[in-house]
Amino acid sequence: MALPSRALSPAPPDPILGLSEAVRSDPRPWKLDLSIGVYVDESGAVPVMGTVLEAERRLAERCDSKGYLPIDGRPAYGTAIRDLLVGPGHEIARSSRSVTVQTPGGTGALRVAADFLVQAGANRTVWLSEPTWPNHPQLFSLAGFEVRSYPYLDDAGRRLDLDRLLGALRSAGRGDVVVLHGACHNPSGVDPDAGAWRSIADVVEERSLLPIVDFAYQGFGRGIREDAEWVDGLARPGLEFLVCSSCSKNFTLYNERVGALTLVAADAARAAAALGHLKIAIRANYSNPPAHGADVVESILRDPPLRGRWEGELAAMRGRIRDNRAALVDALGSAGPAGDWEPLRSQRGMFALLGLNGGQVARLRDEFAIYAVAGGRINVAGLTPSGLPRLVEALRAVTAD
Ligand SMILES: Cc1ncc(COP(=O)(O)O)c(C=O)c1O
Repeated sequence: MALPSRALSPAPPDPILGLSEAVRSDPRPWKLDLSIGVYVDESGAVPVMGTVLEAERRLAERCDSKGYLPIDGRPAYGTAIRDLLVGPGHEIARSSRSVTVQTPGGTGALRVAADFLVQAGANRTVWLSEPTWPNHPQLFSLAGFEVRSYPYLDDAGRRLDLDRLLGALRSAGRGDVVVLHGACHNPSGVDPDAGAWRSIADVVEERSLLPIVDFAYQGFGRGIREDAEWVDGLARPGLEFLVCSSCSKNFTLYNERVGALTLVAADAARAAAALGHLKIAIRANYSNPPAHGADVVESILRDPPLRGRWEGELAAMRGRIRDNRAALVDALGSAGPAGDWEPLRSQRGMFALLGLNGGQVARLRDEFAIYAVAGGRINVAGLTPSGLPRLVEALRAVTAD
């Protein structure tokens, strides 16, 4: 037997992580990497939060076993994540109609959700926003879903087009799966407001859709609780949904692979039954999750002083992203290409979509050593005081003809 021929044809590089390899091999010392979605500080470094280092110090002193975790992870971690998600005392947590399993990152949560739904006989059609995080379509199609998309932005690519979004969801089949970005939409930074979330939940209810909320940036938009505004839209009696959390960004724990999948069912009995099937999906995939990152998160969330410091660190990151956004809009307004840049100021999270075509993104890279993702998605956190004027000048050049 030989490998199948498709395994030997050249595989396309990953649209985002593939760019990191290109940045690394670029010898130009002035290169500016605005591609990958990690928080970088003013010196361009990917920091580790002080509270993470403190929790690790404490854990190192009391680590006495490297035994396997349960398939669904540590129960105390699951509770801590659920409280972070919906707020302690929320009906969703109190009623036991939700279960949370620990997963390797937000991607692990998405994959477990997809496998669980396929295995449980859910509709095999998933609706993704257009645009969306490029890993969504490949993850869901490799899990066995047919991928459809719903429009998300207006023609200028700056604001939510709620009417078109709702229209597309109304055309979905009963029981179809729909992926919603909880906050800090990737790649656009455009989020629904509370009223829009209610309208989305109305259509979800009307069409009996099954939402998966991808919540990879809690705390990067307006605040920990504010970013979970969508919960109020979806937390209706009888409405069931899944939430994929990531601790990569808000705990700077990217390479520890820590996340969670929360399943919210109509009642406690349905949640408990579904948990058994989630465990099968996990066992057949990676068996049980890695411990370290989740132990760090749990230690921080359950220790009030450490938690307070963590919230302060997160607020500082959020504040810097907001300041960078404002500086970007000011610079584009005064020296950038003509355009309606003002909406970028109130968008949320790390990303801004500049609306560039493939040729323009390639020119940014080749002529100016500035790396952006297809469509012109940039990581606003990566803008330094010296990088910002270079970006603005380069944008003027590549959009001139
Ligand atoms: C929208 C979205 N979902 C999920 C993830 C996955 O995060 P993780 O690194 O925790 O797997 C990311 C990471 O970039 C993301 O942007």
